[in-house]
Amino acid sequence: MSSKPTDELRQEVEKRRTFAIISHPDAGKTTLTEKLLLFGGAIHTAGSVKARKAARHATSDWMEIEKQRGISVTSSVMQFQYAGKQVNILDTPGHQDFSEDTYRTLTAADSAVMLIDVAKGVEAQTIKLFQVCSKRGIPIFTFINKLDREGQNPFELLEEIERVLGIRSVPMNWPIGMGRELCGVYDRMKNQVELFNGKDHSSIEVRPTSDYNDPIIREMAGDYLADQLAQDLELLDVAGDSFDYDKVARGELTPVFFGSAVNNFGVQTFLENFLQLAPSPTPRRSTEGEIDPTDEKFSGYVFKIQANMNPAHRDRIAFLRICSGKFNRGMAVRHVRAGKEIKLSQPQQFLAQDRDIVETAYPGDIIGLFDPGIFRIGDSLAEGRDVTFDELPTFSPEIFAKVSVKNALKQKQYIKGLDQLTEEGMVQVFRSVGPFEDTYLGVVGQLQFEVFEYRMKNEYGVDIQLNRTTYQFARWLVGKVDPSKFRINSTLVKDKNDNDVALFENEYAMRTAMERLPDVKFLEMAP
Ligand code: G4P
Repeated sequence: MSSKPTDELRQEVEKRRTFAIISHPDAGKTTLTEKLLLFGGAIHTAGSVKARKAARHATSDWMEIEKQRGISVTSSVMQFQYAGKQVNILDTPGHQDFSEDTYRTLTAADSAVMLIDVAKGVEAQTIKLFQVCSKRGIPIFTFINKLDREGQNPFELLEEIERVLGIRSVPMNWPIGMGRELCGVYDRMKNQVELFNGKDHSSIEVRPTSDYNDPIIREMAGDYLADQLAQDLELLDVAGDSFDYDKVARGELTPVFFGSAVNNFGVQTFLENFLQLAPSPTPRRSTEGEIDPTDEKFSGYVFKIQANMNPAHRDRIAFLRICSGKFNRGMAVRHVRAGKEIKLSQPQQFLAQDRDIVETAYPGDIIGLFDPGIFRIGDSLAEGRDVTFDELPTFSPEIFAKVSVKNALKQKQYIKGLDQLTEEGMVQVFRSVGPFEDTYLGVVGQLQFEVFEYRMKNEYGVDIQLNRTTYQFARWLVGKVDPSKFRINSTLVKDKNDNDVALFENEYAMRTAMERLPDVKFLEMAP
């Protein structure tokens, strides 16, 4: 039985917006994040987020990355207040640190901002991240960036979003010119023009208009751009989707905003609209049915574990998404899987710059729990009850390596390390089903291998041998599996739960196997 929510809890929940920015590297995520943090007063000088990114990516040497761990963790969740809202931005590691953590972090978000480069359109990493969000049916807001550069025709971009991602879109504003000709954007909701001041980019002038045919636009933008705008918007009015809040909430329609993050153009309008339209924390599915965030009893789940934040102490931090109730420092909760009561005494909250000890937190917030090795990804914590949230999905790896121990005398430590790091969600492990047992590791980002190798050596004292294979796809098989059908450019393995999995070198091999085994299901995720 859930108790009646207090006004305080209801207000705190209503205030919260927890989201992730999904994009392909170089679309401008760091720049946009920085502008949002500046608006929220969480940072005071431009360049601080950028500096951290540079520090993180200046080297591919994992030892160095390790030294920077404190940095990447403090930026894992960025919190600020704006216009009465409490905003949590979840950082989704990209570039070299792209990993399963990137995907899992998305499970902790209530909405996503999809950032697209106006010239490049929908790119590979955006597609992958979009699909994870889309499966959860969370609202997705699109920001088309770099309007100050020559880009694709806006209609073509919208068409590409629909064709590649399968989501319909509704432009909230529309560019008046682009690149060197960029004059501003027309705000379709407020019927006003936001002027881009080419000389002083930071200043934004807003002019109310009667509609998009207002002579004021012609005065400002000239005949050519004014005609173009009127033509485009007329077409959108007739043939485009109209704004529908319910469709947005279900993730079937994405509101689209055009702007230029580096010039701070269109960013504030975007932020304000986004905060208004994006949902506050939503109910989460559990063994006790849906748990509403305003349920008085505290609950949450671990979506990410970050190891070795401080090499001197070998500690780990478990990232907990609060799903219901109020969190108070020092409170006792059930660690459901372990079946015991634990005290949450030194939780940390993450700001752009510092890690602070947190006294209270609410649904939608992320707190970092000191982890002496008791947490696993997906663990549920709850106040006075054994509620378990739906299991986090496992994601299909795309890079595979054969792993073995260099020194056979270290076999025991090797098995222990392999078991623990797999359990932590660091890598996925597969074992071949032939007379010679091979062990494969599967990951979604190359850095996971480097981190795995480093941690095996430093935490378990084991040197390992990793040999990259040419496999690119893993499919979980359901049905009667005939091993003779997996000889060419593929192999059969078992996952840690003994499920049958096939690894394929290319799409052709995968399609052939599917055709030959019509009664077998080929799943992208573990059943
Ligand atoms: P990321 O985190 O998504 O990888 O992208 P990031 O913000 O680092 O931006 C990638 C590059 O795109 C940067 O240029 C950044 O300045 C630029 N950029 C971001 N927003 C805009 C925009 O609205 N217009 C234009 N023209 N460029 C934009 P860089 O040359 O890699 O770095 P920098 O030396 O300029 O900082």
